[in-house]
Order: sequence, then C-alpha cells, then structure tokens
Amino acid sequence: VPESPPGPLNDTSAKLVNDKKHPWKPAGKKDIRGPCPGLNTLASHGWLPRDGVATPAQIVNAVQEGFNMGNDLAVFVTYAAHLVDGNLITNLLSIGGKTDRTGPNPPPPAIVGGLNTHAVFEGDASTTRADFFFGDNHSFNETLFDELTAFSNKFGGGFYNLSVAAEFRFQRIQDSIATNPQFDFISPRYFTAYAESIFPLTFFIDGRDKSLHLDMNVARGFFQNSRFPDGFFRSNTSITLDVIGGGIDYIFSKHPVPPGSNNGTVNSYTPNPNSADFTQFCKLYTDFVNITIRGLYPNAKGALLTALNKNLEYFYSPLVGSGCPQVPPFV
Ligand code: HEM
Ligand code: MG
Repeated sequence: VPESPPGPLNDTSAKLVNDKKHPWKPAGKKDIRGPCPGLNTLASHGWLPRDGVATPAQIVNAVQEGFNMGNDLAVFVTYAAHLVDGNLITNLLSIGGKTDRTGPNPPPPAIVGGLNTHAVFEGDASTTRADFFFGDNHSFNETLFDELTAFSNKFGGGFYNLSVAAEFRFQRIQDSIATNPQFDFISPRYFTAYAESIFPLTFFIDGRDKSLHLDMNVARGFFQNSRFPDGFFRSNTSITLDVIGGGIDYIFSKHPVPPGSNNGTVNSYTPNPNSADFTQFCKLYTDFVNITIRGLYPNAKGALLTALNKNLEYFYSPLVGSGCPQVPPFV
C-alpha cells in the first residue's frame, strides 16, 4: 500500500532553497526532465532524485520545501499526475518521458508514460513548450520564450507580471486555434493551462521580493536551465488551491475563452459544454476520476485495484470539506 501523502510544512516562511545541500548540477545523460520547469528545477538541485523518477510523497515534499507550494495544491496536482502518468504498483512517476525505471507496466489502456504523455495531464497552449501536434511537447522552445519576452516588454515593462500572464495566456490559445488542427482545450487541460500562467508569479519570484514581477533572466533560468538563481529564497507564504483559483479568475476575466477544441482543421474552435469550466471545480475532479482515470483503468483487479483506490483517496483528500462529492472507489 502506498504511503500517505505528507502533511503541510511546519515552517512556511521564506528561506534559502538554493543552498549548499542543493547545488545545481546539469542533468546527466540518463537523467529525465520534462514539461514542468518546477519539477525539473527541483530535480536539478537535488530536492527530487536527480534522475527524474520519484514517488508522489517525494514530489509533495519537494514542491513544499523547495517552492512553498501549499499542501492542498501539492497533493491534488501530484496525485492527479501520478494516477494518469505514474506506476501505481511501484509507486514511481517519471517527470518526463516513459522509462523502464518506473517498473513493470500494467495492462493497456494504462499508459504509465510519465509527465510527457499528451492529453491526460500535459496539454496544448503551454507557455514555453510547443503543442504535441508539432512534435515536441516537453522541451524548452526558444521561439515561444522569445514571444514571452516580447509580451513582457509590451505589457510588463520588461517583466512577467499578471497583465503579461493574462495577455500571453490568450495569445497561446489564439496561436493554437490558428495553427494546430488538433488543438484540444478541455478539462483538465483547461484548468492547468491557466494555473501554469500564474505559477511563475507565485513560485519563481524570490520570497523576499514583494513586486509580483518576474525578471526574464530569472524566468529563463527556471524554464530553460531548470535552475534557481543564486541565493534564491522560496515564496514567503504557502500557495494554496485558493490562491491559484484567484489568479485563474483574474486571467480568465481579461479574455474569457470557453473550454473547447478545433475539430481537425485550424480556426475551427468549438466550445464544449460537456467540459468543466471555472464555475465547476468539483466537475474538474469528478470528470478526471470518472473519465480520464477510468479510461486508463477500466477493469483493474487485485493489487492494482487496491493501489488505484488508495491513490484516488489521496487525490480526493484536499477536497474533504470542500463540498465536492467523493467519487466512490472503483470496483
Ligand atoms: C507545467 C506537472 C508543480 C510550474 C507542467 C506540466 C505538467 C506539470 C505535467 C505540463 C503542462 C503543459 O504545459 O502542458 C506538475 C506536477 C507538479 C507540478 C505533477 C507537482 C506538484 C509545479 C511547481 C511549479 C510548476 C511547484 C513552480 C514552481 C509549472 C509551469 C508550467 C508547468 C510554469 C508551464 C511550463 C510551460 O509550458 O512553459 N507541470 N507540476 N509546476 N509547471 Fe508544473
Ligand atoms: Mg503542454
């Protein structure tokens, strides 16, 4: 049975995280990195195993210690990813591509492909990674970063701030609508796309800095090099689901786009009323369990079923008291 998720930090103050015990080292040939600059950075500083394969508990601890991610957000996101991209029997998840290092595979349609896997968690219109349709959904993309820099100059006085976040989120969506015939922008990706636009502001700015604007050289360090700036202090407050929800509402309000997709040709974006939107947080959770996870494990038995249900319980745990109904265990 997989271990329970770690609890919250006792000390949630800002502190040095690029410290003597966590020096940056470039990823070695066999070290895995992927679409998430947060987890890549934690691995390249040894807050996570440097090889890029970790247990959910290691990930929760690392995002809390290294970035001051709140326990509810850390547990919710980590178990969501583990349930669709990780090996539930060995309790290991790759932060990038599929690897033997996560152990023997369960039967298909389960994928256990790591965070690079398209359309179960990773999705389109990312900030600095291209859409899956164009061939590489996980590597740093200089063209996109240059575009982000241009937006930071135009809307943020040379910095990434909330205005830039809102404008660039909309730009990435418009770009995918116009160029990616397979553009897919429904829940859960709909939620994570807006969340990832907030993350650089809550996590990549030094915890002693109150400005809410991010230097673009610091941004490049995280996005491209998986590296903390010298002397970097984590956030001075735990970043909870509510904090991110507030940021999402702000960005959405600037350029509302409903969940939807292109239907095989460019410029054919069609809203999908079956997808959860930002008024339906519980539906994000219930559809993720009933559709996304169930689709990968339609018929789990024995130890796999036990592990699946344990991880589903952990995934729900931040929502206890939220008013969202818990999906019953799989049978
Ligand atoms: C993107 C997973 C924590 C910052 C992503 C993506 C995944 C992911 C799968 C790719 C989504 C996409 O763009 O298609 C996770 C998991 C976490 C976690 C499982 C565990 C808690 C964090 C933390 C930070 C962070 C702590 C910041 C310190 C970002 C950013 C992106 C991203 C900024 C957008 C990258 C880009 O497109 O340029 N994450 N993440 N994540 N994540 Fe994480
Ligand atoms: Mg993506």
